[in-house]
Amino acid sequence: MKPLIKKLVEAYGPSGYESQVRDLVRLEVEAYADEIRVDALGNLIVRKGNPSPEGKTIMLAGHMDELGVMVTHVDEKGFLRFTTIGGVYPQNCLGGRVRFIQGIEGVIGAEQLEGRDKLATFDKMYIDVGATSRETCPVKVGDVAAFDRPFVDLGERLVSKAMDDRIGVAVMVSALQQLKSTPHQLYFVFTVQEEVGLRGATTAAFGVNPDLGVAVDVTLVGDTPKGIKMDVALGKGPAVKVRDDYLIVDPRLVDWMASTAAKANIPYQYEVLVGGGTDAAAINLTRAGAPSTCLSIPTRYIHSPSEMVDYNDVQNAVRLLVELLSNPVQLK
Ligand code: CO
Ligand code: ZN
Repeated sequence: MKPLIKKLVEAYGPSGYESQVRDLVRLEVEAYADEIRVDALGNLIVRKGNPSPEGKTIMLAGHMDELGVMVTHVDEKGFLRFTTIGGVYPQNCLGGRVRFIQGIEGVIGAEQLEGRDKLATFDKMYIDVGATSRETCPVKVGDVAAFDRPFVDLGERLVSKAMDDRIGVAVMVSALQQLKSTPHQLYFVFTVQEEVGLRGATTAAFGVNPDLGVAVDVTLVGDTPKGIKMDVALGKGPAVKVRDDYLIVDPRLVDWMASTAAKANIPYQYEVLVGGGTDAAAINLTRAGAPSTCLSIPTRYIHSPSEMVDYNDVQNAVRLLVELLSNPVQLK
C-alpha cells in the first residue's frame, strides 16, 4: 500500500481544490466499480454491489481535501498575507513551506515580535514566494496553497502532510480493491470540503440516502510525551469510534465494528475523541437520519505538516473494512 499512500498524500488538494486527488482515486477504483459519478460539489461517488434483501445501502466516506491557505493581500514588495483553509495552527506554520497549484513554492515568515518565545498569530505572518514587487509576484489574491512536505517511510511509521485524510482514502481504495463480494449496495464516497465543515458529505449523503454510514478518518492519540489523556495509541489497531464532538455512535454500530474485529482476530481500540468530528456526523443527520460510525486511524500530530500513522494500523483498518462489508449487518 505504501506507493498508493505516497501518491495520495503528496497530491495537492486543499478544500474546494480536490481535482488532482479525485483524478488519482478515479484511476485506482475504476476497474472495481459498478458505477462512478461526480456530484455537483465534486464528491467522487463509487458504487459497488446491488440492493438485495439481506443487504443494506451503506455509505462510506473518506475526505479528499486537506488544510491550506488562501492569499488575501499582496503588498508592494510582493509579500503575501493569507487566511487559513481548515484548522491550521499558527505554531505549525513558521519556517514551513507551501505550494500553490501552479507549483510555486513559498516560505512562511513572520514579523519581528517582542520576546523570542512569543508565538506569532496569523495576522503577523506572511508568505514569501521570492517575489520583489507586487507587479512581478506570480501569485494573486484568492490563490490557494497546500502545505508542502514529502512522504517519509520510517518502516513501521509513515509521516506526511495530509495523512488526514488521504490515509482514509487509501484504506477505502484498498478495501474496494480487495473486496470479493458483498451483500450490500456500497457507496464509496470520496468527499470534498470536510475540513471546512463536512460540506461534501452533507450533500453526498442526501443523494445516496444510505441506511448506514461509515466514515474512515484519522483520530488523535494519547501516546506522546505529556500528550492528551486519551486511550488511543499508534500500533494498537484501528479505532472503533464511540463518540466525538459531533457524533454519539449508535451502540449497535460500536458492537458491529468491535465484534467483527474480534471475530477476525484484528486488533482494535475504542475511541472517545474530545474535540473534532468527521463526515460520519454529516451522514448521521442526513434526511431523516442514518446510524453512522467511523473507522479511525490513530494519528500523531494531526493538522500539522507531519502527521504520523502506524502502517500495521493502516493494514488492519483495510482488513476490518473488508470484513465489515463482506457480510450481512445484524444490528442487535
Ligand atoms: Co482534519
Ligand atoms: Zn479528517
